[in-house]
Amino acid sequence: SENGIAQPPEGVGLEGLRSAAAGCRACELGEPATQTVFGEGPETARVVLVGEQPGDQEDRTGEPFVGPAGKLLDRALADAGIERRDAYVTNAVKHFRFTVKGKRRIHQTPGPEHLRACRPWLEAEFVVLKPEVVVCLGATAAKALISPSFRITQDRGHLLPWIPPGAEAAPDEADEDEDAPSQTWMLATTHPSAVLRTPEESRAGAYDALVADLAVVASALA
Ligand code: URA
Repeated sequence: SENGIAQPPEGVGLEGLRSAAAGCRACELGEPATQTVFGEGPETARVVLVGEQPGDQEDRTGEPFVGPAGKLLDRALADAGIERRDAYVTNAVKHFRFTVKGKRRIHQTPGPEHLRACRPWLEAEFVVLKPEVVVCLGATAAKALISPSFRITQDRGHLLPWIPPGAEAAPDEADEDEDAPSQTWMLATTHPSAVLRTPEESRAGAYDALVADLAVVASALA
């Protein structure tokens, strides 16, 4: 395969990572996409929300979760009591993968090779952000970050103890890191796009379930 693996620079902060990711060609998705869509949010965010990959509008604007799914996510975060200043949003894969059908660009789920190639960017974001809670939005992020056998419908909404990247390798250094939270969690929930695709008669319930899972995240921050 022509896929490599991203090699983020160290010690450059989020803006340095964003600049470096702009030129990433670790996999073939960088060429047809308009631009890299890096994560967005304050460096002091306590929660990192991880989606699948940018959609059409994100690819055009360069910002994650600005399309319909992002609008729904913003509302759900507010309803769950998570403030925007506490939240950083990003994606497991940072380029839009699509096929062209006439004038339309049709979303294609990223493959394991794209997740693997892009993974170092996500880990580098975690290293800088030191989140207290990582939220997997949907099956792609949950399978990549928690377990390939993860089932959203069965296992959603639970706080799972999470060891941030680097902490296993250097426990002494992690202990010395005074900004690192002492307990860190991961939680998976449904993707906001899945709520939008839910048939009308059950959509309100699907939205409420997303808010309920995000309220579990909010309770971990209290
Ligand atoms: N869906 C995602 O998974 N990520 C985005 O940024 C937008 C839609």
